Amino acid sequence: MEIKDLYQDLKNEQMVEFIARVRSNRDGKKVSFLVLSDGTTIHDVQVVYKADLKNYHDVSRVRVGSILAVEGVMELTPTRDQPFEIKATNIEILDEAIPDYPLQKKEHSLEFLREIAQLRARTKTFNAIFRIRSLAAFAIHKFFQQENFVYVNTPIITSNDAEGAGEEFGVVTYDQNHKPLITDFFNKKASLTVSGQLNAEAFAQAFKKVYTFGPTFRAESSFTSRHASEFWMIEPEVAFNDLSANIDLIERMLKFVFNDVLINGLAELTFLATVNEPGLVEKIQTLSTSKYVINTYEEVIEILSQAVAEKKVNFENNKISFGLDLGTEHERYLCEVVNQCPTFVINYPKEIKAFYMKLNSDQKTVGAVDLLVPGIGELVGGSQREDDYEQLLNRCEALKINPTDLSWYLDLRRFGYYKSSGFGLGFERLVMYLTGTSNIRDVLPFPRTPKNLLF
Ligand code: 4AD
Ligand code: MG
Repeated sequence: MEIKDLYQDLKNEQMVEFIARVRSNRDGKKVSFLVLSDGTTIHDVQVVYKADLKNYHDVSRVRVGSILAVEGVMELTPTRDQPFEIKATNIEILDEAIPDYPLQKKEHSLEFLREIAQLRARTKTFNAIFRIRSLAAFAIHKFFQQENFVYVNTPIITSNDAEGAGEEFGVVTYDQNHKPLITDFFNKKASLTVSGQLNAEAFAQAFKKVYTFGPTFRAESSFTSRHASEFWMIEPEVAFNDLSANIDLIERMLKFVFNDVLINGLAELTFLATVNEPGLVEKIQTLSTSKYVINTYEEVIEILSQAVAEKKVNFENNKISFGLDLGTEHERYLCEVVNQCPTFVINYPKEIKAFYMKLNSDQKTVGAVDLLVPGIGELVGGSQREDDYEQLLNRCEALKINPTDLSWYLDLRRFGYYKSSGFGLGFERLVMYLTGTSNIRDVLPFPRTPKNLLF
């Protein structure tokens, strides 16, 4: 049996047996108490045992972290927090943990737990976070599969810098002296992908609706609580969609995920509300139904410069004018203070966005969309794609991107291409938002960040 099953089958006097790990062991005068967890649910089980156990002496000394096989009888306890406890009839010690097992019963800081990432998933907080992560991933697949999208696995090793930001990790081989050979293997420079978008666009022309869900890599040296060097991204791409259909897709997908996680992860969310973010459950309930705001970039510049002029806010960067690449402080002020809800910002100046975005008729903005959310900032980045071959070539030249490297991608525009839109959702940022976690290092099982490659 698993502990999850026990919670789903509450029957007084029923015989149960299960294997679980010791969270605490309290030796009392008349009766003693073990608190056990097997990870299958956020809930622990309390096991009561007495001196009549044949190995009582050993069990009473069993340490935190050890693994036990328990046989016993369920006794319902409707007046207490825990709906039942188990009166042990037999306890077998399967393996003993050493005395300085790092996860003793006291509370540990998230920073301390980060140093022992191989163990931290055993704590209640991380049990909840990583189960929500798993539920959210499944919910995303459910949403897209239900909507007839094709799941496409785009390459991890690539020769293109899809975002043109020069933040790629190189892929090399080594000679006998461990000297890196940069172009040896593929006969060209290779790197880990920063985005599967360009390949997804090719598949969207074949299937109309596709999505990727995979690891992405960025060698950004930004040392923030929202950037990781290895993170997971969901990138849907839909042929014939314009920007407004793209925005609609983002909102529907998020609301589906919020609803699904509320249904399937309520116990975890309820627990996380007590340790990470008060009001978490209500926040997600609201997000699953409320309207999100849309602002144009131009409106945002107006809102921000007015707020600065009226001294309502003092940013680190108060120079707000058209062309500014919005910083996190600006993004968060907009969605947290001004709108107080998720906010789509659309039509950014072309200079601050990627080469593949559709040039608007004003010739100075592109059909881009970012979704900014309170507490996080940018959660989603997407756009309508440039569908004009010559225009795309111009953008490559303006941004010093060699078009021959991307000829296969540019050629898509010559083989019949009518509008295409898509977006990238940073999966860790979504998990942070869902779990009320403030550091991306705590939603990645084994995080990779600058100067940090442990585990
Ligand atoms: O805005 P980005 O760079 O967009 C793209 O990569 C497009 N190709 C997406 C598309 O249109 N198909 O990244 C998308 C999202 C960001 O909004 C953010 O949530 C997340 O990916 N992201 C990161 N998450 C964690 N760590 C990082 N270093 C991230 N960089 C981007
Ligand atoms: Mg972006």
